[in-house]
Amino acid sequence: MKRLFDVNEWKIIEQGFHPEDNRLAESMTSIGNGHMGMRGNFEEDYSGDTHQGMYVAGVYYPDKTRVGWWKNGYPEYFAKVLNAVNIMGVRVSINGKNVDLNEWEVVDFKRELDMQHGVLTRTMLLKNGVEETKIESTRFFSIVTKEIAALRYTVTPINFEAEIIIESYLDADVENEDSNYDEKFWLPVEHGTEERFGYVTSKTKKLDWHVTAAMITDVEGAICEVVEGTSQYVANRFTKQVESGEAATVEKVVALVTNRDYEVEDLLEQAMKRVNEAFELGFDAVLAQHEAAWLKHWEEADVKIEGDVEAQQGIRFNIFHMFQTYTGEDSRLNIGPKGFTGEKYGGATYWDTEAYCLNFYLATSKPDVAWNLLKYRHNQLPQAKENADKNVGMKGALYPMVTMNGEECHNEWEITHEEIHRNGAIAHAIYNYTNYTGDTSYLGQYGFEVLVEIARYWASRVNYVPQKDVYMILGVTGPNEYENNVNNNWYTNLMAAWCLEYAQTVHRHLADNEPDRLAELMHQLALTDEELAQWADIDQKMYYPKDETEPAVFMQQDGFMDKEQIMVADLDPKHLPLNQNWSWDRVLRSVFIKQADVLQGLYFLTDRFSIEQKKANFDFYEPRTVHESSLSPCIYSIIAAEVGYEEKAVELYQRSARLDLDNYNNDTEDGLHITSMVGSWMSIVHGFAGLRVQEGVLSFNPMLPQGWTSYSFRMQWRDHHIHIHVKQNEISIEQSAGEAFSLKLHNQVIDVPAEGSVTVPSSMTV
Ligand code: BGC
Repeated sequence: MKRLFDVNEWKIIEQGFHPEDNRLAESMTSIGNGHMGMRGNFEEDYSGDTHQGMYVAGVYYPDKTRVGWWKNGYPEYFAKVLNAVNIMGVRVSINGKNVDLNEWEVVDFKRELDMQHGVLTRTMLLKNGVEETKIESTRFFSIVTKEIAALRYTVTPINFEAEIIIESYLDADVENEDSNYDEKFWLPVEHGTEERFGYVTSKTKKLDWHVTAAMITDVEGAICEVVEGTSQYVANRFTKQVESGEAATVEKVVALVTNRDYEVEDLLEQAMKRVNEAFELGFDAVLAQHEAAWLKHWEEADVKIEGDVEAQQGIRFNIFHMFQTYTGEDSRLNIGPKGFTGEKYGGATYWDTEAYCLNFYLATSKPDVAWNLLKYRHNQLPQAKENADKNVGMKGALYPMVTMNGEECHNEWEITHEEIHRNGAIAHAIYNYTNYTGDTSYLGQYGFEVLVEIARYWASRVNYVPQKDVYMILGVTGPNEYENNVNNNWYTNLMAAWCLEYAQTVHRHLADNEPDRLAELMHQLALTDEELAQWADIDQKMYYPKDETEPAVFMQQDGFMDKEQIMVADLDPKHLPLNQNWSWDRVLRSVFIKQADVLQGLYFLTDRFSIEQKKANFDFYEPRTVHESSLSPCIYSIIAAEVGYEEKAVELYQRSARLDLDNYNNDTEDGLHITSMVGSWMSIVHGFAGLRVQEGVLSFNPMLPQGWTSYSFRMQWRDHHIHIHVKQNEISIEQSAGEAFSLKLHNQVIDVPAEGSVTVPSSMTV
């Protein structure tokens, strides 16, 4: 654990300069707006250790895979989110000396991320001999006009007169640290510079993604020159003579557009239009709009924790990043496990989206956001069918474990290609959306197609064992990646059977409600009653591993009890984390579990299992789980809260809540853990508050973690905007928009008035 930042309800503050932890601080101070995002890199030159990272949603590069022994089915490429044009750069020289924090004496330094308003600022006092200079910067990526980012950068010589030269630039000659073959991925297309204006268009190799950035910069009272740049670097140079105590202030507005949204030939015009509009509006006005939009986000989605500032900061940081990463207007985009904060995981889509992230957007945003996440997978159905087809003999659709455009592009194929369980999460997301929103229209429009193809995949992937009259699923990897190529992973079998059943349920729903559409779909998909009957047969005869020594436990896979049954608590702590200390061979044959596997199933299909079953499985699996995936603790925390293990629920929650803030896994310098962030939100809302939606009824089963005075959160459910406040002695529910409705609190029906509130003493509900 490393705490570099002050504990503060709304801010991430780094006091003092920490060059040795600069990458960590850069990850932590990343800002973005769903369209683009940037690590907290300094605007001026910096020759010390840094990871330059500016990312544009959906713009990636299919980097050729590096592999020793090529096997059929191996992905052709590994998709990389691209470090794109540096739009924030300013090069500053004071009386001829270039400002570089690695060279100058840093007397005072403060980097501050204001999460409430979405603004990153820095103030510094630098010394060169006896000369002292103050530098202040403010930057933001507008969440109102997504193509716009802006910077205000002020240089003030405190005790001397100076000639200040500031070069404001756009630099598209950038590279990725994780390039497999040390290649550069960008090619120049077009560029131009005029006084106070510059633009550069570059395109990626192979896929021809075009990105145009256009900037307008001004420094009041300065002389502006056009710098002779290169085909990938454009700049304006400003020179200003200042008295001691007088400031030179740069205002730079940048528009960044891509051919994801516009035709290539229109990019420059679009970028110019946006940058001109923003510049005319002025830095302060654009900032004010942006700040107001952030306040609105908080009004709709804040989680407030009283009595624990660390926990408060943790959850707000996590919510802040969820909104920075994905905004849901475009069904071609998705959520990378590192968002816009680093290159790791390639910015690609994982099952994390459906299994975790969807829950947050369902409760905090308009339903279109979650709809677009579902639609993303529907868009990629043809590639998922191809992917199934590549696995000789398989029918239907197998969604990839890692993808950008629907094709599989995983770098660690050996481990993950057998994680076919991801198909289950993708089907479950359709159920989750429909169950939560009550909107069944997705099913007929797109959902059923996806469900049928997923069901077809499972029906072709199972194998029937006649002597036992059961269906088995052999050779898989469950969510627990510390077991590969196992037979009958309980979770995979459960989700496969559930998918087959759910496809039939939706079939019946369409037959009752949209018969014409169903007839059309049956024809289009060539779906027959025999096929449906076959799905029912597989569902009923699915095999689930058991062991008589542990009758109450759902065995994670065949043969699980043959392993040496040692517990994590028995391990010498120096062996942990296992993935950094043990050989892969040792990991695979051990009993230790990387992340929720059986428990993931208990969480997804929560209504099917009793509290006793959940308890028995928690008791068995938790002591064997090392939680070496950041996806793990939140699921265990939710189940712990449900079965009444309050202390354990809180302990597990804490592992994800401040994972990055305290750099628990010592890897935050690579970027933030977005899925774990949503996991901590889930731990509070699904875990501590016990939110469930069953048969159209919203219910809560709240507990209050020890040490917290109270917590409250805002959420949307159907047409209701509600605010739940859990205090020591009472629980209140306030509705700010929506008709009167009923919900369940600790299993009792409570009426919530329209635009009013209801308060129930905790004792009454327990
Ligand atoms: C986990 C996967 C997850 C991936 C991306 C891995 O460590 O085991 O379940 O999808 O990280 O977050």
